[in-house]
Order: sequence, then structure tokens, then C-alpha cells
Amino acid sequence: MKAVKTLLVAGSLMLVAGTALADGESVYNSGCAACHATGVAGAPKTGDKAAWANRVTQDIEVIYDHAINGYQGENGVMPPKGGFMNLSDDDIKLVVDYMVEASK
Ligand code: HEC
Repeated sequence: MKAVKTLLVAGSLMLVAGTALADGESVYNSGCAACHATGVAGAPKTGDKAAWANRVTQDIEVIYDHAINGYQGENGVMPPKGGFMNLSDDDIKLVVDYMVEASK
């Protein structure tokens, strides 16, 4: 009985993780891709390892902060939450994780 319960817990955890990743990608596609798919206004292209090489060496908290609160970088301006203020901080973190993973 205990084993069944463990299996159930593991199964639902996997489900949550799967949903989270899908969400990061869909939010990215419906919003952030406007700049980050092609590199509009100096945005680092997602998947362009060279453009991300110096970014992914930063602490992930710094990258989250840049995406959530916005910042002026060397290449351009990243608006707070990319201008999508309806997104929660956690939503943004999911998208950042997706972008960073795709660009390593
Ligand atoms: C209006 C265009 C635009 C949109 C929309 C946009 N970004 Fe950006 N983003 C930029 C620019 C420009 C930079 C690069 C700034 C620099 O480093 O010079 C950037 C940089 C970043 C970085 C790198 C931060 C770092 O520390 O190097 C992350 C992560 C990021 N954006 C996440 C996102 C996410 C997540 C979204 C969607 C919610 C988003 N961006 C939407 C323009 C945009």
C-alpha cells in the first residue's frame, strides 16, 4: 500500500513538472518571442549560444531580476516582464528557465 502511495506521489510530481515546462514555452511563444525569437532591439536570440554565453554565467537570480524588473543592458532595454505585467514573477521565472535551457 505504501509503495502505491509513493508511486502516486511521484506520478503527480512528474505531471506538475511537465505542465510547468509547457507553460514556460507557451508564455515565451505568445509574448517574449516577439523580441527574443529574432533579436529585435538588441534582445539575445533564444537558442543563440554565443548571445547567451556571458549571460548564463550570471547567477540565475540576477537573470530572473533582469527579466522581472527590467534593465538597461549594453545591447538595449529589456522592459519589466517584457511588458506583460499580467504575468506573475513565477511565470517569468519559468520562461527564463526555458530560455536559458534552450540557449546553453
Ligand atoms: C520589447 C522587446 C523585448 C521583449 C518583449 C522581451 N524582451 Fe527580454 N530582452 C530584451 C532586450 C533588448 C534584452 C537585452 C538587454 C541587454 O542586455 O542589452 C533582453 C534580455 C533578456 C534576458 C537576459 C537577462 C540577462 O541578465 O542577461 C532575459 C532572461 C529576458 N530578456 C527575458 C525575457 C522574458 C522572459 C520575456 C517575456 C516575458 C522578454 N524577455 C520579453 C527585449 C525584450
